[in-house]
Amino acid sequence: MKILGIETSCDETAAAVVEDGDKILSNVVASQVDIHSRYGGIVPEVASRQHLITILPVLDSAMVEAKASWQDIDAVAVTIGPGLAGSLLIGVNVAKAIALAHRLPLIGVNHLEAHIYANWLRNDKPEFPCLCLIVSGGHSDMVRMGGHGQFEKLGRTRDDAAGEAFDKAARILGLGYPGGPAIEKAAAASSPSFSLPRAWLKGSDDFSFSGLKTAVLHLVRDNDFSDPAHIAGAAASFQQAVVDVLTTKTIRAAERLGVKQILLSGGVASNKALRDSFTDNSPVPVLIPPPGLCTDNAAMVAACGYHHYRMGKIDGWDVDVVPGLSLG
Ligand code: KG4
Ligand code: ZN
Repeated sequence: MKILGIETSCDETAAAVVEDGDKILSNVVASQVDIHSRYGGIVPEVASRQHLITILPVLDSAMVEAKASWQDIDAVAVTIGPGLAGSLLIGVNVAKAIALAHRLPLIGVNHLEAHIYANWLRNDKPEFPCLCLIVSGGHSDMVRMGGHGQFEKLGRTRDDAAGEAFDKAARILGLGYPGGPAIEKAAAASSPSFSLPRAWLKGSDDFSFSGLKTAVLHLVRDNDFSDPAHIAGAAASFQQAVVDVLTTKTIRAAERLGVKQILLSGGVASNKALRDSFTDNSPVPVLIPPPGLCTDNAAMVAACGYHHYRMGKIDGWDVDVVPGLSLG
């Protein structure tokens, strides 16, 4: 069964064809990073206009790369939320048009659930129950997954998401946008040299990163940061603080719940220090998609759509975008 996945929730225009929920036949991502970086962050109006320009060429490339004709496609899966309303609308309306024209089932997908399903794009499948940590630009959610489509939210960020904290800290340190890869690169040239706070929020599975971000701001304001070595040291210290909190709290929750595995996902899960920290410290197996499947893509949407289809979760033509959609 071949599913066409479409993703336009934020600043990546993406389309992919995935067979039987795990074989990627094509996975095309058109990033808008160069356009938004000149503003230091995502401009929603610009993002939706750019999706409009890019979506059809991206779809064509995904079909050509998969060597697929419309007769080969069995269903269309698309992200309906969470995300930017104007951006989501482009993907959802294109998906509806394709499904209607080719008489295909339409499957609306939660972007956070899709991030988790990037872990199914592999030969060895995850085992239930598992604990999912979704760390992206907009979310830091800890979710127990008891089976396909069964999610129980345990924790979330109380302020900034982990990716958002990376983006803001990078901006404070003058490292540019997007902040995650910029901090990771700067941190690689140094080791943690400043003492920065960690919000443990004892007794809760929630996270908080705004205090850490403010501490970086004070560090830069109160010290001489003209030396690039200091910037690298601050980047490494910041990254270490985020990694410590995410790893420690998630592993503690996994032990408490007695889950079989931990599943990482979302753009921040492409960070090597975070990946290494989880695999080095977790007593249960940790599954992490390759970096290119952690950041936004449509293969994960198609993989998620495949499991919806198997559970009979098909949407009607009235399916709409839900910018504030949550999981569990
Ligand atoms: O999942 P994603 O591509 O989009 C959202 O759904 O938000 O995540 C984007 C976020 C951005 O905040 C970006 O700075 C962060 O993921 N990110 C990283 C890395 N690559 C992307 N954070 C830390 N280290 C990275 N290597
Ligand atoms: Zn995402």
